[in-house]
Amino acid sequence: MAEEICFFTKDALIIKPPKKSPALLRMIVIVFAMVCGVYICSTCLKQTNTETTRKLLNIEVIERPCHEYDTDRSQIPYLHYPKPKTFSRAECSCNPVRLFAVLSAQRSGSGWFETLLNSHINITSNGEIFSVKERRENASSILRTLDMVYNLDLFTSASKNHCSAAVGFKWMLNQGLIQYHKEIVEYFNNKGVSVIFLFRRNLLRRMVSVLANSYDRYARLLNGTHKSHVHSIEEASTLAKYKPEIDTTLLITDLKRMEASTKQALEYFNSTRNIFLYYEDLIRDHTKLGDVVEFLRLPQMNLTSRQVKIHSGPLQEHIKNWDDVNKTLKGTAYENFLDY
Ligand SMILES: *[C@@H]1O[C@H](CO)[C@@H](O)[C@H](O)[C@H]1NC(C)=O
Ligand SMILES: *[C@@H]1O[C@H](CO)[C@@H](O)[C@H](O)[C@H]1NC(C)=O
Ligand SMILES: *[C@@H]1O[C@H](CO)[C@@H](O)[C@H](O)[C@H]1NC(C)=O
Ligand SMILES: *[C@@H]1O[C@H](CO)[C@@H](O)[C@H](O)[C@H]1NC(C)=O
Ligand SMILES: *[C@@H]1O[C@H](CO)[C@@H](O)[C@H](O)[C@H]1NC(C)=O
Ligand SMILES: *[C@@H]1O[C@H](CO)[C@@H](O)[C@H](O)[C@H]1NC(C)=O
Repeated sequence: MAEEICFFTKDALIIKPPKKSPALLRMIVIVFAMVCGVYICSTCLKQTNTETTRKLLNIEVIERPCHEYDTDRSQIPYLHYPKPKTFSRAECSCNPVRLFAVLSAQRSGSGWFETLLNSHINITSNGEIFSVKERRENASSILRTLDMVYNLDLFTSASKNHCSAAVGFKWMLNQGLIQYHKEIVEYFNNKGVSVIFLFRRNLLRRMVSVLANSYDRYARLLNGTHKSHVHSIEEASTLAKYKPEIDTTLLITDLKRMEASTKQALEYFNSTRNIFLYYEDLIRDHTKLGDVVEFLRLPQMNLTSRQVKIHSGPLQEHIKNWDDVNKTLKGTAYENFLDY
């Protein structure tokens, strides 16, 4: 383009016959042509530059409001459109993602609960990510880990990548959750993370499960492997053969401690958007799972798990010193734990 214009001016100048010396005129023409060329080139470059930046701006403008047309405005604080560093959300980049965390305690059914959640096509629950110590060394490593999970950049076997509509994980109370509760609650409330509390009513059953699981860590009852969760009745009955003996001198104190830590977690996290569930209620009444799906505002689906309960049947069959335990809890606030 620059060249054309410059030739044209050159021609125009040549058409008008010069009065001054031809050498000088030729110099003027050349200088003029050069100045003209440089000017046009620089304008052209500037234009392409502004055009590309305008294009970039357009993309941003188009990208941002893929949301919020049909959605209930009260939901906006809970909707995220993550742009993972590690992959593209492709055709689902405009599907909003909700963030959640399952707050629980060991052996309270959270592993089973997660398999149910993960059977939903749009839920990714990443497991016990804070069992890794470095991730919970201090508040900043916790927040960095949360950012990674919620930006869909943490890969686990549960990851559903681009079409996840809810992403979360399970977090045990003793994994930095209570210690750094202030920073975590602030993060949850800023980001609109929804909290699912999952606890057990029967803390004596929980205690049996904790003891049996830690025994199996070295006893490895299943052909030399340790499993915390099983998928067959045979495996479950093999693990349930071990009957732990409970230290009755500490029993009441231990139950009180468990109860207190649950109560404390509820208090610390009560400003978050939350739902409270008991494991026993989920087992008894599967419609409670529908409440969870609704809480996450996802399409309803029947959720399934292949896991088999290890300590089924009366508790009496799973405790070695049952009579002592029975005697210890009789007449206390925990007496009803004996019955179911
Ligand atoms: C937090 O822990 C990480 C290790 O996970 C360490 O690199 C970092 O320096 C610690 N930060 C603070 C503020 O202590
Ligand atoms: C759920 O996942 C399916 C398939 O991956 C996808 O087509 C659908 O849009 C997702 N739903 C939501 C609510 O994101
Ligand atoms: C253990 O091994 C035996 C024989 O090798 C097999 O029949 C049994 O199913 C295995 N049990 C489990 C729980 O894997
Ligand atoms: C949360 O817990 C604090 C401390 O126990 C209490 O004062 C407050 O009323 C609770 N808030 C809600 C919304 O339950
Ligand atoms: C779940 O399964 C039941 C029957 O097993 C069926 O009646 C119901 O419609 C299913 N719900 C969904 C959301 O698929
Ligand atoms: C507990 O002990 C009482 C006697 O103190 C007995 O009557 C009751 O049947 C025992 N309960 C169970 C479940 O074994």
